[in-house]
Amino acid sequence: MSRVYQPPALVVDKSRLPSFAKYKEMHKKSIENPEEFWSEIANEFFWQVPYEPGNFVSYNFDSSQGEVFAKWMEGAVTNICFNILDRNVMNGHGEKVAFYWEGNHPDDYSRITYRKLLDEVCQFSNALRDIGVVKGDRVSVYMPMILETVVCMLACARIGAIHSVVFAGFSSDSLAERVANCEAKVLVTADGAWRGEKLLLLKKTCEDAMLKAKIKYKHTVEKCIVVSHLSRVTPCGTLPDDHKSLYRWNDSVDLWWHDLMEVQSTCCTPEWMEAEEPLFMLYTSGSTGKPKGVMHTTAGYMIYASTTFRYVFDYREKDIYWCTADVGWITGHTYVVYGPLLNAATCVMFEGTPFYPDNGRYWSTVEKYKVNQFYTAPTAIRSLMKFGEEHIKQHELQSLRILGSVGEPINSEAWLWYYNLIGKGNCSIVDTFWQTETGGHVLTSLPGATPMKPGAAGFPFFGVEPRILDDNGRKIEGPGEGNLVFARPWPGMMRTLFGDHRRYERVYFEKFPGYYCTGDGAKRDEDGFLWVTGRIDDMLNVSGHLMSTSEVEGVLTEEPRVSEAAVVSKPHPIKGESLYCFIILNEGVKFDMELIDSLKKRVRSRIGAFAAPDVIHNASGLPKTRSGKIMRRILRKIAMGDTDIGDTSTLADPTVVDKLLQSKP
Ligand code: WTA
Repeated sequence: MSRVYQPPALVVDKSRLPSFAKYKEMHKKSIENPEEFWSEIANEFFWQVPYEPGNFVSYNFDSSQGEVFAKWMEGAVTNICFNILDRNVMNGHGEKVAFYWEGNHPDDYSRITYRKLLDEVCQFSNALRDIGVVKGDRVSVYMPMILETVVCMLACARIGAIHSVVFAGFSSDSLAERVANCEAKVLVTADGAWRGEKLLLLKKTCEDAMLKAKIKYKHTVEKCIVVSHLSRVTPCGTLPDDHKSLYRWNDSVDLWWHDLMEVQSTCCTPEWMEAEEPLFMLYTSGSTGKPKGVMHTTAGYMIYASTTFRYVFDYREKDIYWCTADVGWITGHTYVVYGPLLNAATCVMFEGTPFYPDNGRYWSTVEKYKVNQFYTAPTAIRSLMKFGEEHIKQHELQSLRILGSVGEPINSEAWLWYYNLIGKGNCSIVDTFWQTETGGHVLTSLPGATPMKPGAAGFPFFGVEPRILDDNGRKIEGPGEGNLVFARPWPGMMRTLFGDHRRYERVYFEKFPGYYCTGDGAKRDEDGFLWVTGRIDDMLNVSGHLMSTSEVEGVLTEEPRVSEAAVVSKPHPIKGESLYCFIILNEGVKFDMELIDSLKKRVRSRIGAFAAPDVIHNASGLPKTRSGKIMRRILRKIAMGDTDIGDTSTLADPTVVDKLLQSKP
């Protein structure tokens, strides 16, 4: 049984939730009386029209009883950008730093106060309105980790436009699909950005994506707004003298960000939004077919993002908080932008990588800004562990109080390294389990309040009622393992999938009627701790990036020489999981390095570099049932080199297993 770590005394002393009993009491209240619990929190915010008592939450999680829905605070009217900026400035935080921006190059940094952020957001809101963006329009965002990205997201929120941020590591194909699927009117990007010594040509990717959107999906983006970023940063590699040669400028579509901003006023009336009107959408991989546009709405997301941030990171007025996630993922939305800013927090925003200019960059940055809360992913932790302690010892890290982990299960070795070496045993570790769909943390430890076990996600956040079900939908009480589901809505959960409410019902609610199904497995141990054991569907989690096996298989079979492909995940010491691809070639095709390279390249360019396969296995056949279903369980074992395959009697041709074991590269 794993050891229990009690919250460190230094954390308990400061905590707003200083005991397990206090957590339990608050959790109980949040379940028994959601209206009383959440309305106290909601009262801190500005409401143009307050919510109506008695109608705080309504929902249906069972599609046989009618349409699935969840609504919070129906009838209330507000604006999240107003609550983040105008309200905080009115409350005396105007001169407070909202972000310390740390560029890729250590000599490149800046800061922005809440007042200045308000000015810039108003200017950009006016600029968007000037080019015809109105409430409900979609704005796609393909940006690096720069302050303009935050300005852009908040400006959309201010005028009721729906931002759809696409991670700037996605290829032009993936961007085209996402821009076209949401029918974006405008695309916002930068000319380029450095990540370490690598130059990303973002504007160029947008040009390709807009062209592909037009040809393949018949969708035309009206305007592309471009931040001139390469001109300001200290180059980290060689840049052509005339960096305008890195993209083509189209006068009828392209607009410079700075030209737009220059002529705009710093006053902008917000669009008042109904509680359940959309705030933003964010694509996440589906286990089949096209990506899902997860839709979040205004009021529920606002109170949930704000409350999870406050309690999970135990944020205090003068703290400096740093989340390393990219804004292209949900963690960047809720815990780089919305959650911290709603709490008037001071944050660090980092453009670069943990390895540039050296492997101590995270720790020198913690020291530079005296960071109190540090939030990163297990894959980053594991990749830094291998460089030993030298880089850590060079830096003063005693400002740290809370260390967060997100994106995948954290193995106990990485947990202990984080706890002992980075936290020196004085920090609480919050292992936060959540999803793009959940909007905010749903299972987590809470600093000061809950005990911790290395690798366990811990306990439900306020308002969250987890259940573990067996495959027949029966509730597992006490210790046991099964499917992780939630029995009731919490304010931050997604409300629909953009343009496809049926898919929303099918994917999340039909497997276990009456429950939201996460698609993850979980176990409850004898002390009541919840452990997330990983995906139970055909999804892969590589370095915290979720993707579907079928998405990668689709790309591999686009290669004319490949007739069939099956992709499974293989455990990887740093990335958590990696892609192991079985391919079957057409008759007479030669399997050689050229083919392997071209397949890897194809996946990189169609999906993104993070999806590049680790292994390509030339297979003569795949283990299939008589009905033709590929048995991935067997493929996973082969990928891991496990020769104990188990029962193969249901296979149409059991001899394929030996052949696969023999042909393993
Ligand atoms: C996985 C990221 C274990 C899980 C916020 C989930 C985790 C998927 C954890 C969502 C964690 C995330 N422990 N697994 N602390 N956090 N996951 O949508 O499989 O990018 O379903 O959201 O990541 O990934 P997404």
